[in-house]
Amino acid sequence: MDEILQVRHLKQTFPRRDGTEILAVDDVSFDVYKGEKLALIGESGSGKTTVAKIIALLLEPTVGQVLLAGEDITRAKGKKLKKAYTRMQMVFQNPVDSFDPRCTLGDGIGESLINQGKSSGQAAQITQNLLALCGLGAEFAHRYPHEVSGGQCQRAAIARALAIEPDLVILDEATSALDVTVQAEILDLLNRLQEDRGIAYLFICHDIALVQDFCDRVIVMHEGRIVEEGIPDDVIQRPQQAYTRRLIDSVL
Ligand SMILES: Nc1ncnc2c1ncn2[C@@H]1O[C@H](COP(=O)(O)OP(=O)(O)OP(=O)(O)O)[C@@H](O)[C@H]1O
Ligand SMILES: [Mg+2]
Repeated sequence: MDEILQVRHLKQTFPRRDGTEILAVDDVSFDVYKGEKLALIGESGSGKTTVAKIIALLLEPTVGQVLLAGEDITRAKGKKLKKAYTRMQMVFQNPVDSFDPRCTLGDGIGESLINQGKSSGQAAQITQNLLALCGLGAEFAHRYPHEVSGGQCQRAAIARALAIEPDLVILDEATSALDVTVQAEILDLLNRLQEDRGIAYLFICHDIALVQDFCDRVIVMHEGRIVEEGIPDDVIQRPQQAYTRRLIDSVL
């Protein structure tokens, strides 16, 4: 299988006020294959978001490499950074914060298209198509982030992430704040996109039942390290580590 993402020996420390260090991520390595839905689970504070931020180039790791489609992007700046964002996008838990409150959703979605050199007419047309794909009517292009519901804003955030036709989308608790019905609709949408476009997902989530349903493979993190990895059914039914057993027992 072909890797879209290779994460190699990531380590992230943060300074504490007393001069000691927090070891948030400790020698984490894994791959995401093209078109794969990979889950990253683990208790609060285990380092999931830190790993996601390093991959999404929002944080420089203390040690380690991130390769996107075989190219080292770890400390990418300028042109290289822009190029990486044409293949990789991230959707956060709170989409309202990731849109500029002064711009309409349509402007937010179209921005990357304009940056890519599309005319404003072309960008508007593609934006309409993306909104429709994500189950939002054309009028949503003219609404501001505070004028839509959480679920609608999350759909718009997914539409924006898809605008540049990425190969990889990182979703950090992207559906956690939504009610069960909206969550199911969004997962349906993500599944369709994976099937139609072969997009890969790194899906960070607390909900083990959802991981079992939605993902092809799961990685379990504990205190900054990967402690287990496998097919969700196997990991959930036959966890090899006591920590994974406790994590599963605490949520099921
Ligand atoms: N900017 C920062 N400065 C200092 N410590 C940080 C920083 N970001 C994260 N940490 C610490 O790193 C550790 C891992 O945090 P991280 O946000 O990656 O956890 P998480 O697995 O995403 O947790 P959650 O499930 O609650 O979102 C925690 O101990 C956290 O307090
Ligand atoms: Mg987190």
